[in-house]
Amino acid sequence: MSERLTSEEVLRLSPVMPVVVIDDAAQAVPLARALLAGGIRTIEITLRTPAALDAIRAVAREASEMVIGAGTVLTPDDLETAFTAGARYALSPGATPKLLAAARDRAAPFIPGVATAGEIQNGLEYGFTCFKFFPAEQLGGPSGLKAMAGPFPNVRFCPTGSVTIEKAPSYLALGNVLCVGGSWIAPAERIRAGDWVGIENAARQAAALR
Ligand code: 3PG
Repeated sequence: MSERLTSEEVLRLSPVMPVVVIDDAAQAVPLARALLAGGIRTIEITLRTPAALDAIRAVAREASEMVIGAGTVLTPDDLETAFTAGARYALSPGATPKLLAAARDRAAPFIPGVATAGEIQNGLEYGFTCFKFFPAEQLGGPSGLKAMAGPFPNVRFCPTGSVTIEKAPSYLALGNVLCVGGSWIAPAERIRAGDWVGIENAARQAAALR
């Protein structure tokens, strides 16, 4: 049984959390190995495809050094199935009271998505202090996030949404940002093509960001 991480520890695993959409579970292990070879030891496998849970199971079994997160967790059932499959933490693009309560009751490392001050306050009421800021670029980018530091000095973020290798440094320079999320390291077409060398190289570049 792997040691349980806190949400803050999760967000400190890597300066970039690769967000992936996997169509074929057979590609999950070579993908995880390419990221690990490039120096990235975490991955957000989104629950957006029928292959996602098998992908989580395969990586948990065959590339156990990879700390797997399940993304696009929208319901308490998603949370349950993701953790049962072997995810070590979960993320959501937003949050609902039901989902926040289920994650709190499970004491699971869960990173809810927020877009407004009110959503942050709602998450704080449930005991959450680490959030995904989504969709980051569309919400004002680094300056939108910097504005949240005044009222919420103890809150930490993983901005995600149209972040690129070029844009990542200005987020990572903020005191309230622990990492950024993005699909640019392993976009679906690169995974489909089995471009493990390209993914490893992009991972290496991302891992060096901080
Ligand atoms: C997501 O799909 O969860 C995020 O927006 C990451 O994808 P992007 O880096 O392509 O915006």
